[in-house]
Amino acid sequence: MKYKLAIDWDDFLTNYWQKKPVILRKAFAEFIDPITPDELAGLAMEEELDSRIVTNKNGKWDAKFGPFTHYNDLGEDHWSLLVQAVDHWHEQAATLVEPFKCIPHWQFEDLMISYATKGAGVGPHIDNYDVFIIQGMGRRRWQVGDRNPNYKQFSAHKALLHVEAYQPIIDEEITAGDILYIPIGFPHNGVSIGESLSYSVGFRTQTSQELLSGFADYVIDNLPNGIFYQDPDLKLPSDPYRIEPYELEKLQGQMIDLIKNPDLFNDWFGKHITIPMHDLNIIPADPAYELDEFEEILKSGAELHRVPSIRIVKIEDTAYINGEKIPLPMETIDRLCETDVLHYEQLQDEQTLNVMLKLVNLGYWYFDEE
Ligand code: SIN
Ligand code: CO
Repeated sequence: MKYKLAIDWDDFLTNYWQKKPVILRKAFAEFIDPITPDELAGLAMEEELDSRIVTNKNGKWDAKFGPFTHYNDLGEDHWSLLVQAVDHWHEQAATLVEPFKCIPHWQFEDLMISYATKGAGVGPHIDNYDVFIIQGMGRRRWQVGDRNPNYKQFSAHKALLHVEAYQPIIDEEITAGDILYIPIGFPHNGVSIGESLSYSVGFRTQTSQELLSGFADYVIDNLPNGIFYQDPDLKLPSDPYRIEPYELEKLQGQMIDLIKNPDLFNDWFGKHITIPMHDLNIIPADPAYELDEFEEILKSGAELHRVPSIRIVKIEDTAYINGEKIPLPMETIDRLCETDVLHYEQLQDEQTLNVMLKLVNLGYWYFDEE
């Protein structure tokens, strides 16, 4: 299915993106759910997917983590099932993310889907990411508060971090095809009116702490020779116990020089940002294809499909996929990014065939079975 999203992106980015929450009514006209609650329940029985059931019966919060073997004993209401990264496993659900691919793709995390019964929700909380919550079947009442660093958060259950009561700036019901956009840091609470499905398209960036730690690991692995602090212009200091401001500055410069080195920083970031945040449906070819055989299969008309939601980015004239560099010309890379399905005619030159052979053997692309 092709989802058509009616958003004025210029207006949205200028007025709302990472600034304030908003409800976009009927952003999807005549919305059709890409998945059924039964299918979602089936996915939550698989080990590779992260799932949880949150209950709030009689004001008591509880959370259980999947994979689930059954759904007995849950009762009629006040429970919801939440499944992360459904786009990685369910092709139809993945199509719902397509219209959001105009936002820088390296910031996209996943599509989380929740099925909720009457009165269910995960409680008032604050997320560390920006999210478009698309309402599917049913209705939900959302209360969103203003951003405020002083809110107190507390564990309503060991797996549920809630936030103290806040004054809503949005308090509305949404129905199929409506979107609630919530920037990082705004407290929110969604309570299902009856049975409902919600689709959360999440965008996540990394903290400076995570970036520094990731870059440090890369530098340790990729720069075998240490770079030492040196000060050949040293004059005897009046107080040898004191570290002088110029010395601190030189130390900072020593570190910043590494970060500013594009050979290091760009290569690290391309690899780092394409490492999957959730398990992917990657099955390496077994046995691995040989080049001749690979070319024959392609020539016979077989299509190559990219693993749903595998992370792929471009930095200058280099591309990265799933934590690895792809050594191909940019024209080919553009094609690999833009289309999920490839044919022989698009891959004929020797270099491309060899690289694709490696990527297919790794399981990043696979042959259509039909
Ligand atoms: C839900 O879909 O139940 C929770 C989504 C959220 O508040 O982040
Ligand atoms: Co949330």
